[in-house]
Formats: sequence, structure tokens, C-alpha cells
Amino acid sequence: MASGTGIERIKTGIKGIDSMLNGGVPEKNQVIIAGGPGSGKTLLSFEIIYRCAKAGIPSAYIAFEEQPAQLIRNAKSAFGGFADVDSLMQQGNMVVGGEELAARMEDTTGSTETYSFGNVVSYIEDIVMTNKAKVIALDSISLFRLVLSSDGFIYRKSIAQLISNLRRLDVTSFITLETPYTEKNDVRYSPEFFLFDGVISMYQTGDNEKRSFVLEVLKMRGTDHSMFFAPYHITQDGFEVQTLD
Ligand SMILES: Nc1ncnc2c1ncn2[C@@H]1O[C@H](COP(=O)(O)OP(=O)(O)O)[C@@H](O)[C@H]1O
Ligand SMILES: [Mg+2]
Repeated sequence: MASGTGIERIKTGIKGIDSMLNGGVPEKNQVIIAGGPGSGKTLLSFEIIYRCAKAGIPSAYIAFEEQPAQLIRNAKSAFGGFADVDSLMQQGNMVVGGEELAARMEDTTGSTETYSFGNVVSYIEDIVMTNKAKVIALDSISLFRLVLSSDGFIYRKSIAQLISNLRRLDVTSFITLETPYTEKNDVRYSPEFFLFDGVISMYQTGDNEKRSFVLEVLKMRGTDHSMFFAPYHITQDGFEVQTLD
């Protein structure tokens, strides 16, 4: 497999995933983390932000679906081994935002859905600019579908607009997306898969006795990557992704 040298990469800090990506995500790629409910999208994107911040890269996590305080509490309880979350946040290397989002979305007096979407995009911009963030996580964009529910065309246009804004901000992004399926045999290619630079897809497998999980790199522009499904589980010290090497 070609090593893909000569491009800058952002290490996710999760060993198995970085090795599946030949070293990391090509810098400034906009990457979808897709999966069913409970597959671990929120925790995976949180760990990536945590690992990047720990590696000295200013990083921001933007929670669309829960209060930042609640998210931090839950992530710290899931990842008991991440002792330095608070100090990384105090130093400003790791930012968790989202508090004001609900208010921004409600502020639609006399305007359209796209206005509300524009508010979300400008919120993302504010956080990135204020904190000089290089890596961001958005959890999740499934909310946009609800806000822009009436029209598939407007939704796709808005997603394309979000991507172009993220490119302009020069960030590498991890954006979670809830899928209506959980098993890999049921995978359906949603429009987001075509629009974004990369897709990491998480699935449930197993029998009726016990669920287990695998992930794959479905797509990653700018690099060669593994074509295998990698079993993973979530430990107190983060994701363990088992690769063949
Ligand atoms: N505080 C916790 N302690 C232990 N396990 C947790 C905790 N929070 C979440 N988990 C486990 O991680 C799984 C994935 O959580 P999450 O990342 O929120 O999934 P998603 O965002 O894909 O819906 C949960 O279904 C649960 O099994
Ligand atoms: Mg989630």
C-alpha cells in the first residue's frame, strides 16, 4: 500500500484508525462519522478532539444535540482514563461549545429556514476564529435535516455551503451523522457521503446474544486507506480499534 507521503495529515490519535488511514486524515478534509444510535459517534468525535488538543493542536467540539456540560460529564464518565480533560480546557487547547446554539436557531423572526442555518454556520465560525481551532467536531448535523426538513434540495445546498465554509476556515472537521441503519449489510449511501471528503462508518454486527461493533473507512480523499472492517470497543482509555497489522 502506498504510504501517501508528501501530504500533511492530522492524526486522530486513535491508533487503529490512524493506521487504517496510513498515518491520519489528510489535513483540511471534511470527514463524516456515520453510524446508528449508540454506535459511538459522539464519544469517537470527542476522543479525536481530546487527542488532538493533547497533541498541542487547538481543537473545538461543537455540540448541537446536548448541553456542553452534559456532554463533558458523560465523556468523562465513559473515559475515566482521560484525567486531563479539564486542564486542556483551561489551557484553551480544547474548547467545547454549543450553549448558544438553540437561541441562535430560534432567532428566525420573519425569516426563512436558511437564515437559521446561516446562524449555525456563523456560530461555528465564531468558535473557530476565537479559538484559532485547527480541528473541529460537529455533533451532529442530523439536526440540520430537521431544521431544513421541507426540501431535500435546500438541505443538500446547505450542506455544500457548510463544507465550503469549513474549507474557507482551513479546519479539518469530523462531523457526526446519524444513519437510519445499524448493520453494514444495510448501508445506504446518503447524499452527505458524496459531498464530504471522507466517511468513517460505524456498524453493529453479531447475533442475538450480544452486539459487537466494526468500523470502516468508506472513503477518504487524498490518501490510500484500509478496505477492511475493524472491530472496535470503547474502553476507559478510549477507543480500541483492532487492525490486522
Ligand atoms: N458514561 C458512559 N460509560 C460507559 N459507557 C458509555 C458511557 N456513555 C456511553 N457509553 C457507551 O458508548 C456507546 C456509544 O455512545 P455515543 O458515543 O453517545 O453513541 P452515538 O453518539 O453514536 O449515539 C453507548 O451506547 C454506551 O454503550
Ligand atoms: Mg451521539
